[in-house]
Amino acid sequence: MGTSAGLVDLRSDTVTRPTPAMRRAMAEAEVGDDQYGEDPTVVALEEAFAERVGKEAALFVPSGVMGNQVALRSLTRPGAVVIAGRQQHIVAFEHGGAARNAGVQFHILDDSEGTISPAEVAWVRETADHHWPQPGLVCVENTHMPSGGRVWSLGLLQELASSARPLPVHMDGARLFNAEVASGVPASTWAGAATTVMCCLSKGLCAPVGSMLAGPADVMSVAREERACLGGAMRQAGVIAAAGLVALRTMVDRLGEDHERARRLAEAVADRWPDSGCEPARVDTNIVVFRHPEPERVLQHLEGEGVLAGTIAPGVVRLVTHHDVDDEGVDRAMKALASVP
Ligand SMILES: Cc1ncc(COP(=O)(O)O)c(C=O)c1O
Repeated sequence: MGTSAGLVDLRSDTVTRPTPAMRRAMAEAEVGDDQYGEDPTVVALEEAFAERVGKEAALFVPSGVMGNQVALRSLTRPGAVVIAGRQQHIVAFEHGGAARNAGVQFHILDDSEGTISPAEVAWVRETADHHWPQPGLVCVENTHMPSGGRVWSLGLLQELASSARPLPVHMDGARLFNAEVASGVPASTWAGAATTVMCCLSKGLCAPVGSMLAGPADVMSVAREERACLGGAMRQAGVIAAAGLVALRTMVDRLGEDHERARRLAEAVADRWPDSGCEPARVDTNIVVFRHPEPERVLQHLEGEGVLAGTIAPGVVRLVTHHDVDDEGVDRAMKALASVP
């Protein structure tokens, strides 16, 4: 239904636990010292991911944040301006890491619908001709978590990539495979609009640890050094990469179930609070966000009914579906939502 404690845990898809197949693969993983390039399981995961997203090379990193930070350090110089959406993870949820780890500053654009405007990016790109600091990179997020897991339109993303040129584009694709399943557009096509792409194995795909960064071979060889600089180079990491391989090979197709369940939750939210900004038809993937003037009261009531939810901004509640929440769990959450006083 939900967690081991019998709760329906909708706080995040990061709460998913490794599947029995992952645990078996981890126990049996062939390993070596990855800093010497000698861990065959890590090498296999990096090759499989690079191929899956159509990039020359990939790098296994401990977390999505590290993947984003390594991308910033690999694609920019200190002082550069990074153009990104105001609510994107790399801007709002990485504890100021961009400034501390890469010495960059953001030029933030509106991303309330999940996307940033190609015309605005083109405008910022031109500001350097008018005494503004030099832009060095554009970042996008697909799916875009704070807008409720929205998927970009491929046409708009391609337009954005052209208006960014010659700047590189980094895609935070923490949930890239949710975008693939929801849109029917292959991950490699999405990634084709970006220079580098980061993707988490530890969210809806259920691996216990790890994310991937992929891109051109020369950028990824810089990224390997930057990962080491941040303390993210690992040793016998094949133990966790083995779970990542199972995640990549077997856990993508089922993500559609999470999307259907999120839609049902969104219907319960929209029924209970028609003015909360929650529109079920616009729930593309596994995330439901809605406004409420007293989120703590909602969370407390839900918890009393055995349902865990969270907030992502003042007055904004988030529910996330995933592998460890089944139909019964969603039914229970829907009832709990309907009974919030
Ligand atoms: C869009 C997005 N990017 C990056 C991350 C960071 O991933 P991690 O928690 O593995 O560092 C998250 C985590 O929730 C996320 O939602």
